[in-house]
Amino acid sequence: MSFVCNHLAIIMDGNGRWAKKKGLPRSAGHQAGTEAAKRIVTACRKMGMQYVTLYAFSRENWSRPREEINFLFDLLVRFLSQELNMLVEQSIRLNILGNWEEMPFAVRQAIKHACAKSRAGKEMVLNMALNYSGREEILQACRNLLKQDLDPADLNEQVFRDQLFTAGQADPDLIIRTSGELRLSNYLIFQSAYSELYFTPTLWPDFDEEELHLALEDFKKRERRFGRVERIE
Ligand code: FPP
Repeated sequence: MSFVCNHLAIIMDGNGRWAKKKGLPRSAGHQAGTEAAKRIVTACRKMGMQYVTLYAFSRENWSRPREEINFLFDLLVRFLSQELNMLVEQSIRLNILGNWEEMPFAVRQAIKHACAKSRAGKEMVLNMALNYSGREEILQACRNLLKQDLDPADLNEQVFRDQLFTAGQADPDLIIRTSGELRLSNYLIFQSAYSELYFTPTLWPDFDEEELHLALEDFKKRERRFGRVERIE
């Protein structure tokens, strides 16, 4: 039996190393990484995936040099304005995971505009994790629930999930991390409980449709039991 991947989440890692290998500045790696992101979003949409989630800026990324952060924000603003038509034409709704209100004015404006314009998208959701921390997401959910004076007996998984940035969405079926690092780095901590994980040494700017197919082929071979025993010999 093969499984369908409805929600693919990606940790796009290795832009800096890609640039270094080529003797280019880190910014060139991020630029090439953005091209890779466009390729993969388009490919996923063609495949009929329902959710694609990209880790574009973690809360921990604020500790990078100011110049690099500014470059990443400029790239993001450009990406959102240049790809907005594509998102609307392809019926892709943009959704942000993370505390994006803490980002600079230009980024906030671009996010608001792109989310509003793509709101009617029905075919796929593109989640972009921005200023995102999985642990902070869980703490925020707790804070919200405490404010609601919820009876502890009424707290169940569904009630909790409704407070997450991914409320109403299916959990990721597959999480891909590029560049050979073998960890989740605070990504979708609650939602990844039963996600399949795929790690590849390929650096993100080199990740293409062929690599995506390899990952999905690998995923299809997995036996997903969600803790159940399917048959007793
Ligand atoms: C990791 O590479 C990547 C990031 C910090 C952010 C991801 C950003 C992009 C792919 C570009 C922006 C994307 C969009 C869609 C606008 P790294 O810098 O950590 O690489 P390294 O570990 O090799 O140094």
